[in-house]
Amino acid sequence: MCGIIGLVSQDNFSSNEVINMLKRLEYRGYDSFGIVTNSGLFEKEVGEVKPVVENKCTQAVAHTRWATTGGVTKENAHPHSDCSGNIFLVHNGILENYLDFKKRLVGHKFVSETDTEVVAHYFEEKTKTKSVKESVLDFMNEAEGTFAIVLMIRGDKNLYAFKRGSPLSLGLLEGGNVLASDIYAFSDRTDKTIFFNEDEFAIVNESGYEFYRLDNGILNPVSKAITKVKWSGTEEKKNFDHYMIKEIYEEPEVAGRLVNSLQTEQMPELEKLKQMISSAKRTVFVASGTSYHAALLGVYFLNKAGIEAHAIIASEFRNFYLVDDKTLIIAVTQSGETMDVIEALHGMKSKGARIASLVNVPYSTIQRMSNVSINIEAGQEICVAATKSFVNQVIALTYLASLFGYEKDFSKIPEDIRNVLSEEEKIKRIAKSIAKSGDIYIIGRGYLYPVAREIALKIKEISYIHAEGMMGGELKHGTLALIEKGTPVIALIDNKPEIISNVMEVKARGGRIIAITNRDDDRFGEAIRISARNKLPFSIEAAVAGQLLAYHIAKEKGLPIDRPRNLAKCVSVK
Ligand code: M6R
Repeated sequence: MCGIIGLVSQDNFSSNEVINMLKRLEYRGYDSFGIVTNSGLFEKEVGEVKPVVENKCTQAVAHTRWATTGGVTKENAHPHSDCSGNIFLVHNGILENYLDFKKRLVGHKFVSETDTEVVAHYFEEKTKTKSVKESVLDFMNEAEGTFAIVLMIRGDKNLYAFKRGSPLSLGLLEGGNVLASDIYAFSDRTDKTIFFNEDEFAIVNESGYEFYRLDNGILNPVSKAITKVKWSGTEEKKNFDHYMIKEIYEEPEVAGRLVNSLQTEQMPELEKLKQMISSAKRTVFVASGTSYHAALLGVYFLNKAGIEAHAIIASEFRNFYLVDDKTLIIAVTQSGETMDVIEALHGMKSKGARIASLVNVPYSTIQRMSNVSINIEAGQEICVAATKSFVNQVIALTYLASLFGYEKDFSKIPEDIRNVLSEEEKIKRIAKSIAKSGDIYIIGRGYLYPVAREIALKIKEISYIHAEGMMGGELKHGTLALIEKGTPVIALIDNKPEIISNVMEVKARGGRIIAITNRDDDRFGEAIRISARNKLPFSIEAAVAGQLLAYHIAKEKGLPIDRPRNLAKCVSVK
């Protein structure tokens, strides 16, 4: 995934200004970081981004890493450089044919295991006989895989940036320019942005920029529009211990904000989406992780409203769905940058399918690729585990179903969420009692099945406990064999008699039931009470209870809740 920065300015700036920008990209990866400036600073370290030696400069490139090719070591951290130490580059993406490149770079000394270092040596070799622009052209013609690269060469006033697959944008500053993986990096400095499209290359210096696009093996000049972005900047943690709990407590507010915006300023876009759904033969959601679970709820509610809908996991989309020009694809994604989703959309576009999306991050790649896009208005989500974005995805999808006749009342959702939040102390006690478990099962039926899966994902990613969310009816087809005395099984219990049977099956084998329910029934034993009677608020309340439970399990275990090991907020690799 990784976050990259390249800053060039007429006036001197401090190395730590760049570090501050890099910090804002840390959600893209946080295992190691590095910076190089044109006045001699070159620092790399394993761990989270932190201040570096103060150094005044007019050019710098920096990187925060989520390891792909090569382990988490100082040597593998970016920037990488060539043998001469004159060429430096930062890279987000995966260069698939880097070993072919490496074989040809005879005599070069490599100090890391990365694909990126090979690119630095490639440019060292190429620029012996060609201009940088010609070398970039050769690279773009030969490279396989994904890349957003910023290249800095000692003694050269330009930064060189080129991309395929991975995101890249240019922020226009007073007396300078900044290249970054996305606008978060510089949204406090400028609202003027140019987004790179696929296969574009830019030469950027302190007073201007030139853009080129690769067409039929040639780099042609291209004029670019400047987008004025509206962005509120990064969020603070305030008095909360973690971003996750802060974001959970924001849910009533962001839910209300979304409903309001769907009923007012987003109404025209929503109407367009309704038309697209009506005129398509079928609607297919494509999503990953938490967003996929929200999409499954969207399928449930749209089907109830008589609309044929399906949800497919993005990374397997092409293997499990046949798309034609009568299919409407709706991408559901918090970041709008998930590579698996982008890849699926590219494939579908070429088959004539129309593309819509539900996105949280404005101006993201997927939002810009879509014919119609609804913003879920959850605000910036910093914790890797998605919480408030899930709630708002579910509301937006159900709202869509309501345009076809499903559930109409969205006014009480903030209040429903507050009801669950008031159960936090009880949830915390239950969390403590299961924090040492090796396995946790979560069961639900119908619209509560996706919620069961979502709760399991939350528990897995932040508390590192194996958790399985499943359809209550599937238990008896195999998984029941794993239930022993005391095995925790969280059961999402509404008024369906079948789920009670599943609960009894577990209890009969000694399993420990923790009910999330709106029923008063002492057969369940421990219960987290929720108030909702209808499906939409029930699904949201149950999910929020699960988020709190996962949070308190992880807190009890003393884990790094906002930045779980091995993960990143934005998954921009395949
Ligand atoms: O940005 P997206 O919604 O496309 O991200 C999809 C998944 O990577 C994401 O939901 C992931 O599963 C979260 N960490 C779950 O909390």
